[in-house]
Amino acid sequence: MQTLTGNILVLDDHKSVCRLLKQTFLSVGCNVYTAESTLEALKVIDLQEFDVILSDINLPIFSGMVLLQEIAKRDKDLPVIMITASQDIETTKQALSIGAYDYITKPFDKMQVIFSVSRALQYRKLICENRAYQQSQENIVRTRTRELQMALMRLEDAFLENRKAHLETIIVLSKVAEFNDVDTGNHIKRISRYAELLGKAMKMPSHFLDQLAYSSPMHDIGKLFVNSHILKKPAKLTPEEFAEMKMHPLNGARILEGVQFLQMARDIALCHHEHYDGSGYPSGLKQEQIPISARIVTICDVFDALVSKRCYKEEYSLQTAETIVRQEIGKRFDPEIATIFLSIKDEMYQIYQDLRDNV
Ligand SMILES: [Fe+2]
Ligand SMILES: [Fe+2]
Repeated sequence: MQTLTGNILVLDDHKSVCRLLKQTFLSVGCNVYTAESTLEALKVIDLQEFDVILSDINLPIFSGMVLLQEIAKRDKDLPVIMITASQDIETTKQALSIGAYDYITKPFDKMQVIFSVSRALQYRKLICENRAYQQSQENIVRTRTRELQMALMRLEDAFLENRKAHLETIIVLSKVAEFNDVDTGNHIKRISRYAELLGKAMKMPSHFLDQLAYSSPMHDIGKLFVNSHILKKPAKLTPEEFAEMKMHPLNGARILEGVQFLQMARDIALCHHEHYDGSGYPSGLKQEQIPISARIVTICDVFDALVSKRCYKEEYSLQTAETIVRQEIGKRFDPEIATIFLSIKDEMYQIYQDLRDNV
């Protein structure tokens, strides 16, 4: 005798049929449940997993067709074998067309019933194995995706850490020049913040903003070579002293020369005293001849000097600084950049206030 494994539900309103099928499938090793109405069968199905359903078609109130439709809603791969009287052939065809797995006719041939259920169990087993395989594949993909996301997050963290370390190193290096200067330490931090914010308002790409943030603090690095008494002189410079002072852009460019990573820093150091109208130094460049990074830093640098206290001047109010900036539009400053700068002047001034010097 063939041995089968699985949970089978038999639905028939005739107790004798239920009993006969129960005995048949218990004898081959299955777990068998019985129900005498469609509603009772649905209750059992909602509580218990089944591998095959055997259901009469002609039932009082709700027919086997109703059961078939309800099962399709719950689990379309659960095989349902219809039990039918031989005269119900049209209904049986209809049941097969809406998803019944097979049918058996009364009176039963026991071997035929076992064979049909055995096939249905085999089908169910394949479906379950396939589902388990799909699930395991989905789990693998989910786990891999999570691992990849974690790796990317770690990479991003490392990148941000690295960027922060770069910026801190640059600020420390730039402070060496500042020790020699009237500017205090926070000036270079503010320049980095102003320049990045202005570049953002100008809708510059993010890699440009990154470079601008770490490059702009080095704008005055060439002051290392300027005599400190010139830098700290609270009075007007003599022509000779001014000539020495004007060397700091070229000296800065020399320090930063030849390193790809410092290309923008070199441009800024060299050109942050060039004027839009060509009246600046060291080369008298004008308009677009001056790198955009330097045109951005120029206005930030001047603004910061205006609103800060220096040994030769008091702090100017935001209003006074704005008036002076306006007077320099098209002369010292690029008109487009200056217009955008003035549109965000309050945020710029906030940066000054957040990072102001303790003097
Ligand atoms: Fe400078
Ligand atoms: Fe500066």
